[in-house]
Amino acid sequence: MSPAPQTTAANKMPRIFVPRDSGALALGSDEVERAIVAGLRRRNVEAEIIRTGSRGLFWLEPMIEVSVGDQRIAYGPVSASDVEKLFDAGFLEGKPHALRLGQPEEIPFLKRQNRLTFARCGIVDRLSLADYRAHDGYKGLERALSLGPAKIVEEVTQSGLRGRGGAGFPTGIKWRTVAQTNAAQKYIVCNADEGDSGTFSDRMIMEGDPFSLIEGMSIAAIAVGATKGYVYTRSEYPHAIEVFSRALAIARAERVLGKGIADSNYDFDIEIRAGAGAYVCGEETALLESLEGKRGMVRAKPPLPAHHGLFGQPTVINNLVSLATVPVILAQGAKFYAEYGMGRSRGTMPIQLTGNVKHGGLFEAGFGVTLGELVDEIGGGTASGRPVRAVQVGGPLGAYFPRALFDTPFDYEAFTARDGLIGHGGIVVFDDTVDMARQARFAMEFCAIESCGKCTPCRIGSTRGVEVFDRIARGENVSDNIELIDDLCLTMKLGSLCALGGFTPYPVMSALKHFPEDFGARPGRVAAE
Ligand SMILES: Cc1cc2nc3c(=O)[nH]c(=O)nc-3n(C[C@H](O)[C@H](O)[C@H](O)COP(=O)(O)O)c2cc1C
Ligand code: SF4
Repeated sequence: MSPAPQTTAANKMPRIFVPRDSGALALGSDEVERAIVAGLRRRNVEAEIIRTGSRGLFWLEPMIEVSVGDQRIAYGPVSASDVEKLFDAGFLEGKPHALRLGQPEEIPFLKRQNRLTFARCGIVDRLSLADYRAHDGYKGLERALSLGPAKIVEEVTQSGLRGRGGAGFPTGIKWRTVAQTNAAQKYIVCNADEGDSGTFSDRMIMEGDPFSLIEGMSIAAIAVGATKGYVYTRSEYPHAIEVFSRALAIARAERVLGKGIADSNYDFDIEIRAGAGAYVCGEETALLESLEGKRGMVRAKPPLPAHHGLFGQPTVINNLVSLATVPVILAQGAKFYAEYGMGRSRGTMPIQLTGNVKHGGLFEAGFGVTLGELVDEIGGGTASGRPVRAVQVGGPLGAYFPRALFDTPFDYEAFTARDGLIGHGGIVVFDDTVDMARQARFAMEFCAIESCGKCTPCRIGSTRGVEVFDRIARGENVSDNIELIDDLCLTMKLGSLCALGGFTPYPVMSALKHFPEDFGARPGRVAAE
């Protein structure tokens, strides 16, 4: 890095880890890196700068780390103007400074996690296959190759992995259906559209540990007999697209993608495609239409994509997190993975804490942690310092939960039992200034804007819903209009072709049920029904 470099302590070149995740970039991590390079030059010190993804502690970004002996020491949030003082304080040796956070693993937010899917994210050089391998990468594929297709499917089934895209369908069963369907061409499609509000786990993997997705898709391909894969993401993720495209090129050059992957007899390659950011294009059949170059309209099911998917061929379509979790399952075994979690929700879930929350970020833990623990303890309450009034869990189609339901464990069945869903694991926090009538109207408006238009309850119902909420806001026949909303929600729930129209009633009805006072309604009206 400098012409006549000196190295520090014991002639060992310092290693400085600077995140290049979109979140860290937005907060100035490139400027921080430039300031570090300039500081090293001025001091004639040589160091290796490694660009990583994010550890997912967003309130501390940009969080930089230095290797000190066998440990890393973190500093954050660092701005470019802090860098000179960090040098002066001796940060390259991990010395004290107001921004010193100590060992990242000891920060309570990280210490409470069980990082399996995100084990490498924020730690490895995101574009180094050697670093990926040094951190247990490709152990899953190695074992998968020794097991063969049928046993891979069995292993994924036994792990209890359920789709992390929202519906929670068992991944192993989906794979078995595709494996048992005869066809000359089969596909693996990764759903990285990530449209849910407050979610970013797919993006973090693409930017921070892209080889885990490539490995997971490769294992899926071997399991079902597919030779081609697509990753479908949104054009709003330019950094993810850039990093993942570079990772694909590296994987091809190093022969873990393409003909005879990893010296096996299996051929598999992947392409990445960007959609325009329509929420409905995350729905699996609309996504397939979009991938085929058509308008993103939902297809009627059956036939299932497993039988008749992309270009009419049998297709595994899984969420990115589902696929990126497969390597650890194969590497460590189904039993290891299934030991995490509760009930029928096995393994870990990357929960994404956002909105008005003090400590926003990614929290991966076994299923079972309660909403209260997540919001109050891990998230630290609101960023505004005001009381938490509501949280929306599971994206724009998820229910609003009041504080009274904060004992709900993060578990598919527990959320269903309370008329909610965990979706893709997003939690958006609101303080006591939130107007729940506006949130309910927003749910209808969102549905009206994002509807693909194929069925009437969603296309027309959502527009009528917005109008009814406007009448309620003007105080016109409030209780009659609330009855109308009840009725409309039932029609949308029962009559919509897909979950966009079918689940919009969840945020609407939960807002009415738990916060009736915001609608000028009689408290307890809906709750009592
Ligand atoms: C309106 C709508 C939007 C959706 N958006 C996404 C999305 O952005 N990402 C995703 O993985 N699944 C999304 N889904 C769920 C997919 O249809 C599908 O269940 C999922 O890709 C299957 O993968 P999994 O089994 O691994 O979860 C959406 C569903 C609906 C109805
Ligand atoms: S519910 Fe809405 S998004 Fe889904 S198929 Fe019907 S119109 Fe399209």
